[in-house]
Amino acid sequence: MMLDILTAPFMKEMTKTTSNLYRLGWDERNGGNISYLLNEEELAPYLDLNSVRRVVPMNFDASALAGCYFIVTGSGKYFKNVIDAPALNLGIIRIAKDGRAYELLWGFEDGGLATSELPTHLMNHTKRLSVDPTHRVIIHCHATHLIAMTFTHDLDEVEFTRTLWQMCTECLVVFPEGVGIIPWMVPGTDSIGKATAEKMADMRIVLWPHHGIFGAGPTMDDTFGLIETAEKGAEVYTAVCSQGGIKQTITDRQLQDLADAFQVTPRAGVLHV
Ligand code: 13P
Ligand code: ZN
Repeated sequence: MMLDILTAPFMKEMTKTTSNLYRLGWDERNGGNISYLLNEEELAPYLDLNSVRRVVPMNFDASALAGCYFIVTGSGKYFKNVIDAPALNLGIIRIAKDGRAYELLWGFEDGGLATSELPTHLMNHTKRLSVDPTHRVIIHCHATHLIAMTFTHDLDEVEFTRTLWQMCTECLVVFPEGVGIIPWMVPGTDSIGKATAEKMADMRIVLWPHHGIFGAGPTMDDTFGLIETAEKGAEVYTAVCSQGGIKQTITDRQLQDLADAFQVTPRAGVLHV
C-alpha cells in the first residue's frame, strides 16, 4: 500500500515554502517557481514510479539530468493556492532518457504544465550539481527590494555585491561568493537559462534585473534563507536610501575581519584591503 503523498516531507516543504513566499509578497499572481530534486527512495513509498501519466516534450537538451526526479511548481499557477490544492499546482516529473521530454508521474491534474522557467531550472540544476553534489533546490521569486535595487543601483556585480554585504553583517557570511547579475532578457527562454546557469558555476544567487532572483542550495531552508538574506540587504538599502543615504558603513577591512572570523572567502575583487 502506498502512503498518502500529501503527507510526504518534500510535499510539506513545497506547500510551506510557496505559502511563505506568497506571504512575504515575493510571488504575486503566478510569479515565481520552485524545483526540488528528489531521489527514488524518497518517492517510492508514495508513488508508483512505473506509472507515467503524460510525456511532455521539451525543446532543449536536459540529458545531463536523464532519470532525475523533481517536484516543480506549475506554469501559471498561483503560489497562494498551492497549500489548498497541491495536486493542481504542483507536479512530480522525471526527465526522460533522451533528455528531450519530461514524464509526469503525479500532479498538474487539470492538464497543467511545469513552470515556463523549466529550462533555467534544469540548466541551473545541471550546473550546480557539477560543482556541488549536495545541491537539490532552485527557487525563483520576485523579491521586491532586490528588484527595486536593479533600478537604482549600478548593475555591476562587484558593486552590487559590496552594497549588499554592507547592508547587513550577515550577508557576507551567507553569500561570500556574491551575487551574479545577467542583462535583462526575455524570461522562459533557453537563452536566459544558459546565461543564468553560467553564473551558477560560481554563485548561488543570480539576479534578473527588473524581474527577480534565482537562488540555489542543498535544502529548501538553505535556499530560502539565502534569498531571504539577500532580500533583507536590499530592504535595508531601500530604507537607507529613503532616510537620505549612507553616512557610515561597514568598511572593507571590517568585512574582511568578518570573513576571517567566519572562515569564508569573499569573492575576489570586491574588498579593497
Ligand atoms: P510560471 O508561472 O510559468 O512559473 O512563471 C512565473 C514567473 O515568475 C516567470 O518568470
Ligand atoms: Zn519570474
